[in-house]
Amino acid sequence: MAAYDRVIRGGNVATAEGSRVADIGIKAGKIAAIGEDLPRGEDETDAHGRIVTPGGIDSHVHIAQVSGMGVWTADDFESGTRSAMCGGTTTTISFAAQHRGQSLRKVVDEYHARAAGKTYIDYAFHLIVSDPTEQVLGQELPALIADGLTSFKIYTTYDALKLSDRQILDVLALARRHNAMTMVHCENHDAMTWLAEKLIASGRTRPKYHCFSHNMPVEREATHRVIALAEMLDTPVLIVHVSGREAMDEIRRARARGLKVYAETCPQYLFLTQDDLDKSGFDGAMCMCSPPPRDKANQEHVWIGLRDGLFDVFSSDHAPYRFDDPKGKKVAGTDASFKKIPNGVPGLEIRMPLLFAEGVLKGRLTLERFVAVTATNPAKIYGLAPQKGAIAIGADADLVVWDHERELTVSQRLLHDAMDYTPYEGMKVKGWADLVFSRGELVAKGGEPLAKAGRGRYLAHGPSDWSKPLGRSIFPEDISDIF
Ligand code: URP
Ligand code: ZN
Ligand code: ZN
Repeated sequence: MAAYDRVIRGGNVATAEGSRVADIGIKAGKIAAIGEDLPRGEDETDAHGRIVTPGGIDSHVHIAQVSGMGVWTADDFESGTRSAMCGGTTTTISFAAQHRGQSLRKVVDEYHARAAGKTYIDYAFHLIVSDPTEQVLGQELPALIADGLTSFKIYTTYDALKLSDRQILDVLALARRHNAMTMVHCENHDAMTWLAEKLIASGRTRPKYHCFSHNMPVEREATHRVIALAEMLDTPVLIVHVSGREAMDEIRRARARGLKVYAETCPQYLFLTQDDLDKSGFDGAMCMCSPPPRDKANQEHVWIGLRDGLFDVFSSDHAPYRFDDPKGKKVAGTDASFKKIPNGVPGLEIRMPLLFAEGVLKGRLTLERFVAVTATNPAKIYGLAPQKGAIAIGADADLVVWDHERELTVSQRLLHDAMDYTPYEGMKVKGWADLVFSRGELVAKGGEPLAKAGRGRYLAHGPSDWSKPLGRSIFPEDISDIF
């Protein structure tokens, strides 16, 4: 009998700490050995001359969800996880989103039902908390955290989702008590609304004015405010979808004070600019997301932040609304003002390949940083390590063997989500995910699916050191008992 179910032989095995040429022996879906000249496996995969990384964890994904504007995402768990898998992602963390008046527990049950039997790869949930009532804070959230739903996103904007500063403090205090991770969407709602009303009243309604309303100072201000609130309570916080330098500077200043402030960015801030929202007619709506893409200089700053460790996580913020669809971007018609166009861009299939091709292969990002931000850090931050996010003995054999020679022109035709466009259409790239393994099973090859839906498993989150308070106070005496 063969020693392993499969051996991936002779690849350049990359982890967040470094890389070396080695064989990977897989048994019962787990990594059983890493070394040289391993005995033969039942199946053999030749990876000589290829890079092997952990399968990606996309920790910011909206699928089978109704947005803050009341629009359903185009992707459900089947199309969403199929698409993720074909691009080298082997775990998604999507949102179970509470809308006001809903019981969080019921919301979670609904998302479990939406995902059950549908997913191609393993999946976990974050919560979106939009209604932190006494019942939610006192009973539902603590019980859900105990069940392994230990991370939640809150919003400073969107009428249907936004929390007041006071409510943000309530949620942060709860996160502190229960060692949970709070992710925050940071934009100043009142400033954006004020500006949007004036823009629209003056006839400036086209998609490009979305960027005027969602400008950098509104992102910077809310980032600063949320960090200050978290500092007050000595609670770690993760700022999601950071778009450029000014918000990054707030995070750098917080880090310089020793705070546990984590940061996430996304492909749209590396590969799109505000000019993409100024395409003819309604086309700019394709690239409309919040915060919006900025300019070339900000793109460079985001690359710097990925390189130097400011960014802990590179996620897609996949928020798929079809373009030519009355239930998608055109829900309010093509003459609608930018305020009525669903916010979000797709990207979960292309997240890993774009960063690999444009980052690693073009020398802008080390392989170690690539692995850290696409897999290892999200696993640690959200309590999925050591099972996920690393090439280590005992970890799930979620792996990608990369084809660094493959040249292609990005096209929606190549992708496997339920969308009718990609914002990256026409981009020429060299390098793509070739062989994708999920728990040892070859689930995609050359960007095409091999597995069947329904094999994915739900993952509860474990405890994470990243979400523990620092144990220090801004007050002259310890008053943490009142939080
Ligand atoms: O525009 C975006 N990012 N839409 C998705 C929802 C969110 O805020 O992440
Ligand atoms: Zn957001
Ligand atoms: Zn999002």
